[in-house]
Amino acid sequence: MTDLFKEPSRTFGLVECLGQTFANDDARREFFLNLLRDKLKDPAFRKIEGFPVGTDEAILAMSDPPYYTACPNPFLEDFVRHFGKAYDPNSKYSREPMTVDVSEGKTAPLYKAHSYHTKVPHLAIVPSILHYTEPGDIVLDGFGGSGMTGVAAQWCGTAPAAYRHGVESEWKKQGRPAPRWGARRVILNDLSPAAAFMAANYNLPFDVDAFSKAGKQLLKDVEHEIGWMYETLQTDGITKGRIEYTVWSEIFTCPHCAGEVNFLDEALDEDSKRVKDSFSCPHCGADLNKDNLNRVLESRIDPASGEKWKRVKFCPSLISYVSGGVRREKQPDKSDLAILAKIEAMPLPSDMPTVRFPIEQMYHGSRIAPKGFSHIHHFFLPRAAQAMALLWHKANSHPNFRIREMLLFYVEQAIWGLSVLNRYQPIQQGRPGGSQVNRQLTGVYYVGSQHAECSPQYNLGLKLDRLGKAFRDYKTANGNAAISTGTATGIPIPDGSVDYVFTDPPFGENIFYADLNFLVESWHRVTTDAKPEAIVDKFKNKALPQYQHLMQRCFAEYYRVLKPGRWMTVVFSNSKAAVWNAIQVALQQAGFVVAEVTALDKVQGSYRQVTSTTAVKQDLVISAYKPNGGLEDRFNRRGATVDSAWDFVQTHLKHLPAVKVTKGDFPELLNIVERDPRRIYDRMASWFIRHGEMVPISTPEFLAELPHRFREADGMVYLPEQLVEYEKVRAGIPQAKQAELFVSDERSAIDWLINFLYKRPSTRSEIHPDYMPQIGSAKKKGEIIPELDQLLEDNFLRYDGTGEVPSQIHSYLSTNHKDLRGLSKSNPQLVVKAKDRWYVADPNKAQDLESKREKMLLKEFAAYQAVSGRRLKEFRLEVLRAGFKAAWAAKDYKAIIAIAQKIPEDALQEDEKLLLWYDQALTRMEKM
Ligand SMILES: C[S@@+](CC[C@H](N)C(=O)[O-])C[C@H]1O[C@@H](n2cnc3c(N)ncnc32)[C@H](O)[C@@H]1O
Repeated sequence: MTDLFKEPSRTFGLVECLGQTFANDDARREFFLNLLRDKLKDPAFRKIEGFPVGTDEAILAMSDPPYYTACPNPFLEDFVRHFGKAYDPNSKYSREPMTVDVSEGKTAPLYKAHSYHTKVPHLAIVPSILHYTEPGDIVLDGFGGSGMTGVAAQWCGTAPAAYRHGVESEWKKQGRPAPRWGARRVILNDLSPAAAFMAANYNLPFDVDAFSKAGKQLLKDVEHEIGWMYETLQTDGITKGRIEYTVWSEIFTCPHCAGEVNFLDEALDEDSKRVKDSFSCPHCGADLNKDNLNRVLESRIDPASGEKWKRVKFCPSLISYVSGGVRREKQPDKSDLAILAKIEAMPLPSDMPTVRFPIEQMYHGSRIAPKGFSHIHHFFLPRAAQAMALLWHKANSHPNFRIREMLLFYVEQAIWGLSVLNRYQPIQQGRPGGSQVNRQLTGVYYVGSQHAECSPQYNLGLKLDRLGKAFRDYKTANGNAAISTGTATGIPIPDGSVDYVFTDPPFGENIFYADLNFLVESWHRVTTDAKPEAIVDKFKNKALPQYQHLMQRCFAEYYRVLKPGRWMTVVFSNSKAAVWNAIQVALQQAGFVVAEVTALDKVQGSYRQVTSTTAVKQDLVISAYKPNGGLEDRFNRRGATVDSAWDFVQTHLKHLPAVKVTKGDFPELLNIVERDPRRIYDRMASWFIRHGEMVPISTPEFLAELPHRFREADGMVYLPEQLVEYEKVRAGIPQAKQAELFVSDERSAIDWLINFLYKRPSTRSEIHPDYMPQIGSAKKKGEIIPELDQLLEDNFLRYDGTGEVPSQIHSYLSTNHKDLRGLSKSNPQLVVKAKDRWYVADPNKAQDLESKREKMLLKEFAAYQAVSGRRLKEFRLEVLRAGFKAAWAAKDYKAIIAIAQKIPEDALQEDEKLLLWYDQALTRMEKM
């Protein structure tokens, strides 16, 4: 490619695309559309899992190939080959994990330019992309949603100076090298055609001025054609006003006299705008409230099918309009009702979709169908149907393809707001008044009993300016982004071709994307194939194990396409421990190694590392890496040997941060939980288990050997060069802050005690008041946490006053008590002070302690196995973990499965280690 024709420039009107030159952009699109048209005729292509539901023509109409297709993008591979850099095992790449603050940037105009059910703001993603990648690198998001990862990747190239300055000075404060600015290339994929369409419009270039002009014209044309539908007369009967919205109230009947009750007319207090708790029946005077009214289903004729149709009854109750520049309200009068009747007699416009929702497979199906809403057109009252269809028609008729797509991107945002899902909310933030635009309940289909039917101008008028402003300073270019519509289990790009993955998958049963997107997708005439959707949904027969396996397949695909040694950031937002564990297990089964998990502390605005899995209340960010080829190759050669275990640790330590400090002017040093010896053991063990191998070294042997192979500081394990870095920083920050640990089970209780006694060898009575408040209500059903005394006895050492004071206690007392400074270890004054203090054993003794403990745990496990009956009523998770581990080592998969069936499902699903062993045991048994 010569420089003259390098994308995205259009020298002499010529356009360069994937190595070919075209006379202009239309010619480029036409050429690739023809290729896509042929491809769509290939039955094998159409059979790809997750292929959207729609005709060839509908898919082609949405697509802008090769950059965006409303189906799996057959040009992605060319895109990667053209722009990507092949993996070079000799290139030096090393990064530490980086945290994402997902709450950042929620007010940015670009973020707000199009809403989606959940979004991670682009400004929250930009720092990670800057950190993990170089300009021109390829970033992937397989659950791309509205395309924010793409916006972030491009923002790295177009961020304004003030933003750059902010990032640079923050990084400088943290002692990090300055970021390298410049756009990254991005591949975005989503199962949902609506999401991918949004992502495409967010990420592909368009002429902002031309769009703003076309948007204004569109609103003008709509006004010209159907403005009469929104005219009303002021109460003087002469002055004309423009309707902003009409409030429709559901009609009920009185349980006493069966008379019809217009809910809003009777229950709304006109002055305060509050709904009264009780009110009188206008017919018989009986006391009524929302709960004792009877629903009315009126018989209508379905305007699409001409057949009988029953739907809840709505009547117009209130009109909010503007006249002479003043906003006023009135009750609908005769002429208003006449206009509504005239509109109702009009035929349903052809642009209005009339398809039926897949009600039986929808989580919210039972909320809408009994009220009579089963087809798309049912969601629009007659005037809103005319308006929405006209908006769509006008947008879709624009001659310029990119402007047409952007106009659809603009008007599709009125679909929810013009439908009956838009609730009337006269009180907002405790006060009467406020906009009635897009007041639908998010994340569900819910038709309330008061609906604000907005005019197109009221819903979309202000949005146009906002869109123009949002996109004006954000410059995208053709060739920066490629968008595909399909499942993340199969992304059509070569192995090892991606430099970084940022992803925010669906988490469990929070949001039913395919169901929710059906409303908008029906307008595009291309809908989601919900079969591969990664959610938990009993209506689609998807429980947690199905979700976990789907996620595992998606992560395996990420693993395949990521270059070795590269990183993936996963944002997690679900408060269920079981879902969290499903993700952890899926990640590890796919081959990723987790290097850090952090949670945003919303109150403090800072991050804390997460050590326990049961107390997941906030958004979590997982940083995981694909081990480099070297480690895997050596493992394949050597097998599951002790050397492979140490090789893993060596590689893993390289991926952990050397230092972690809090943000702000007075930074504090944080403990790095992933550097805890036991945590490292667990990561190593998981790695072997996921390779289907035995763990070649026991915990006690591992803990004993660790200090001989690596360096140790403040209870954390380091590579020598990392320790130098840590110590340098520590020297400048005297006060080390202890990482906050949740105590939720026996393991985390022990971890808490280790941390406590490391810093402060103490007597039982000193430990007790600090320890007790940690034992919260987070305990799992049936699980027992041993008493403090037993925990101390089994896991720590107590100095009984005989012999020399152990060095752990000696150094603590001499640092913290002036009068005990410089005393020998056998000094009587020191001995008295040291007596009965519990402390963390040094590695040699730790091995003995650990062996003793393991034996005891296995004895208890044998007792669990001997319990007759179907259920274990009470158990210790540590016993189960030790038992599973031993059974795995003995290849006794049956024992694992048998015990797993005796414990509550939650206990299994909420424990990452148990789940991993159980899952592998099942796989092994299947193979046997
Ligand atoms: C949490 S949202 C992503 C939102 C995105 N971060 C944003 O800012 O807009 C998860 C997305 O995953 C998509 N999805 C669900 N199952 C999928 C699958 N198997 N493959 C690809 N995408 C899937 C859903 O359609 C949804 O858009």
